[in-house]
Parts: sequence; structure tokens; C-alpha cells
Amino acid sequence: MKFILNRKIVETSESPGVHTLDFLRKLGLTGPKEGCHEGDCGACMVLVGNLQGDEVKYKAMNSCILPLGKIEGKHVVTIEGINIEGLNPVQQALCDEGGVQCGYCTPGFVIALMSYFMNEGLKDTPIITAIEGNICRCTGYNSILRAAEIASKKISALNVSQGRINAMIEAKFLPNYFSEISEKLKKIEVQPQLKKGTLVAGGTDLFINRQTVEDPVFLSKLGFDKIWSDDDYVYVGAAADIESIRISTELNTLFDTAKHLSRVSTLPIRQQATIGGNVVNASPIGDLTIYFLALDADIILKSNGNSRIMKLKDFFKGYKILDLEDGEILEWFRIKKEKKMLSFEKVAKRMYMDIASVNSALSIKIEDNIIKEPHLSGGGLAPIPLYLAKASEYLQNKEISPEVVKEAARIADTEVSPIDDVRGSAKYKRLLLRQLIYAHFVELFPELEVSL
Ligand SMILES: Cc1cc2nc3c(=O)[nH]c(=O)nc-3n(C[C@H](O)[C@H](O)[C@H](O)COP(=O)(O)OP(=O)(O)OC[C@H]3O[C@@H](n4cnc5c(N)ncnc54)[C@H](O)[C@@H]3O)c2cc1C
Ligand code: FES
Ligand code: FES
Repeated sequence: MKFILNRKIVETSESPGVHTLDFLRKLGLTGPKEGCHEGDCGACMVLVGNLQGDEVKYKAMNSCILPLGKIEGKHVVTIEGINIEGLNPVQQALCDEGGVQCGYCTPGFVIALMSYFMNEGLKDTPIITAIEGNICRCTGYNSILRAAEIASKKISALNVSQGRINAMIEAKFLPNYFSEISEKLKKIEVQPQLKKGTLVAGGTDLFINRQTVEDPVFLSKLGFDKIWSDDDYVYVGAAADIESIRISTELNTLFDTAKHLSRVSTLPIRQQATIGGNVVNASPIGDLTIYFLALDADIILKSNGNSRIMKLKDFFKGYKILDLEDGEILEWFRIKKEKKMLSFEKVAKRMYMDIASVNSALSIKIEDNIIKEPHLSGGGLAPIPLYLAKASEYLQNKEISPEVVKEAARIADTEVSPIDDVRGSAKYKRLLLRQLIYAHFVELFPELEVSL
């Protein structure tokens, strides 16, 4: 397979299931560091540039959980590929503000900030989001944030009328060779996909803990990563990454998805992980699964040209058991294109960058203070991600009141069977579910706060 690594085209016969970090370090590129090898620390971060039309769009990704096959036909940039003569303004600002001590995390921070600055779509996202996937163990984050803000001011002053990348080359944020990448990528031939094997979407689940996959079939090469709508539905491809879903116009015109999904992992993981992987890995606390359960999503499955459609809530049959036949692919999600009130809540040991102890979502419509079409879900409460059918049914046609909310929470409690584990005791999780149901209503109807 071929790809561009920094300035050069690389051709390799390595298995597409090899972890990119291991491959890079074997080549002597020691800028990307190994910290956790689980996608948690950002020390191994690289930029991955994908040709879209004539432009190359770059995203920061954790190379430790990035299978080599996913970078075929793309531009991979390590810190070595950012370096120019002297320091670039991001590196300079980190030095000036005392944002570096041992330096182990620094290449990752520089890559994360570069990705943020190169990405037009992130300009309304607070800069702290850019580095939410990076851990520094000795400097302290204030100096790093100060440096980020200084660099950000310089970026804001650039004239980007000739393209963002060109402006960044001009201002010496990026080396000159970036201007040639688009033409070079167009000439790289991508090998045909294996016909059979293990489906890999983002790989953030399959490739943690040094796991390898011998026969990966990359969903990104099959399509299904689009988000679009017709008059009746919004469709989300199973291979759409979580960040694209979070900022999608289609969903944000209906709900506050950008806010809700900012609680899911970190920017680099969201840019890699997909909704399909979130659902098919069948974790009882998958955030996207819980979100789309409350949106009463349909899913579309395909094998050998045959399609079938079902409710997402009917997909889960038992712990990690799905209504998914051998060889079947989850292709699309579909939700009704209608404005509803939607609340998503998540309790985790850390506010950001953590898997939930319990999460929950609620969607409802209100007509004359009466609840219509309620859908309530909860995660971390049973062997499967739960659609809380009885509580949802109870809420239908009820007038909003503190008593109704309390009764819905009581009924929801009868539907769950949490266990004691590292994320909390069963008793604690039941308590969290109750509080999260209250929180949904308080979020949607702030006047209820006093009386609950
Ligand atoms: C650091 C870190 C933080 C995380 N934080 C969170 C978090 O906050 N919230 C959360 O919910 N999860 C979190 N996760 C868990 C996980 O990465 C996500 O659930 C993610 O969405 C999985 O998607 P993926 O595309 O990477 O899956 P992959 O690893 O590519 O695939 C997972 C499984 O699904 C199968 N599969 C994937 N797509 C399809 C398809 N379309 N059809 C059929 N089978 C398919 C694969 O064969 C595989 O068995 C985190 C993971 C990491 C590493
Ligand atoms: S080594 Fe920690 S995220 Fe990759
Ligand atoms: S400078 Fe040492 S870990 Fe960040």
C-alpha cells in the first residue's frame, strides 16, 4: 500500500492491521511517542490528511490505535513533517510561555494545535477542545493554553482568501511542501479492498491494548460515511465519525447535538471513532447508542445485496449479542426529520474524556403542556444499552409535573439491572439514573427545578 509520510511517498507491504505508531517508530520517526497505547494520552498524535475534491483536510489522530490500512492513499504528518528551519509559531509560543518541561508530550500538543488551526470547521470550537486528548504530566496546562491562545491570535490575523493551508505556509506555520500534497495524493492508487474479513470502522475499539487484526476490511473505503437528509428523514452513515455527527448541520438544525456530543471522549477519538462501531461493539454505555436510542432511530443492515430495516432498540439481544447475521454490515441510521426536545446526560469520573458510569437521553414533543412521543434511554444499567420502554410508555400523553417525572423515574428503576463494578455500585447507578431523568426535565423545563 502507498501513502505520503511527511515529504515522501512511502510504499510498504506491512499488514494493514499494523498499528501506525509502531510502523512510524520502526522507520526511525521518534517524534510520535508511546504513552498509553490506548488512545488516552495524545503523545503519539499525527495528522492524517484526506483528499476531498482538490483540498486536503487534516485531522489529528492517535497513531497508537490507528491501523496502517486506514492511512492508505492519505498524507500522514508527524512532528518531523511540521518542522521548518527554526521553530514554527506554535512551537515558539510553547517555548516562550514555559509550556515544555520534559518534552515527552510536546509533539502531541503541537500536532493537536496544528490540526485545530488547519481545520476551518473547528473555528467556533473553544481552543481547549483542541488539546482535550493530550495529557501532560509535568508542565501544567495553563502555560500550554497561553501558548495556544498566542498562536491562535496569529492564525486569526491571517488572510485565508487563498486557502487556509497556503496562508499557514506563508506565515511559516507549515513547511512549503504542503502545497504539493493535493496533486501528489491524486496520483496514489488505492488497492482493492479484501472481500471478506473483520470489519474495521474507526478501529478505536478493535485496536486498543495492542490488539491486531489479520484480515481488516476498512469500512471507510466502502462509503457509508455521509450524513444527509430528505423531506422526511436524516440519514447518518454507519462509518460517519462522531465529530462529523456532532457538528453536522442536519442534526444541529433539529437538536443541540454539538453540545450533547462534546461529552463523548476527545476530539481525536471523535474524529476517528464511528457511530457504527459504537453500536456494534454493543457496549451497554456507548454514548452514541444511547443518544440514537432516544431519537428512536431505525437502522439499515445489508448483506449480499439484501437490505433489512429495524428499530435500533430491537438490535440488542443480550450482552454483546446482536441481531446481526454473519457477513451483514450496518450501513445507515435514519431518524425522523422533526424538531423535538432532546436532553443527553452523562456521569463519568471525569467531566470530559471518559466513559460513562451511567448515561441517559430523552426526546419528547410537547403539545399544550402534554408530553408526546417520549423516548427515554439509559446506559450502564443492564447488559445492553437500554431503551426504557415502560417509562417511555408511561410518559406518553402526561401533563408535565414533578409527580409525573418522579413516577417515570420510579418506573425506569424497575426496568434496569445494574451490577457493581469499577464504575460504581449497582445502588449508585440506580441513584444516577433517577437523577439523570430529573436532570433531563430540569434541562428542558427549568421551572421544574424548584419542585423536584
Ligand atoms: C480513549 C478512548 C475514549 C473513548 N471514549 C468513549 C466515550 O466517551 N464514549 C463512548 O461511547 N465510547 C468511547 N470509546 C469507545 C469506542 O471507541 C467507541 O465506542 C467507538 O465509537 C467505536 O467505534 P469504531 O469505529 O472505532 O469501532 P471499531 O473499533 O472500528 O469497531 C468496533 C466493532 O464494531 C464492528 N463494526 C464497526 N462498524 C460496523 C458496521 N458498520 N457494521 C458491522 N460491524 C461494524 C467491528 O467489526 C468491531 O467488531 C472510547 C475509546 C477510546 C479508545
Ligand atoms: S500512546 Fe497514548 S494516545 Fe497513543
Ligand atoms: S512536558 Fe513533560 S509530560 Fe508534558
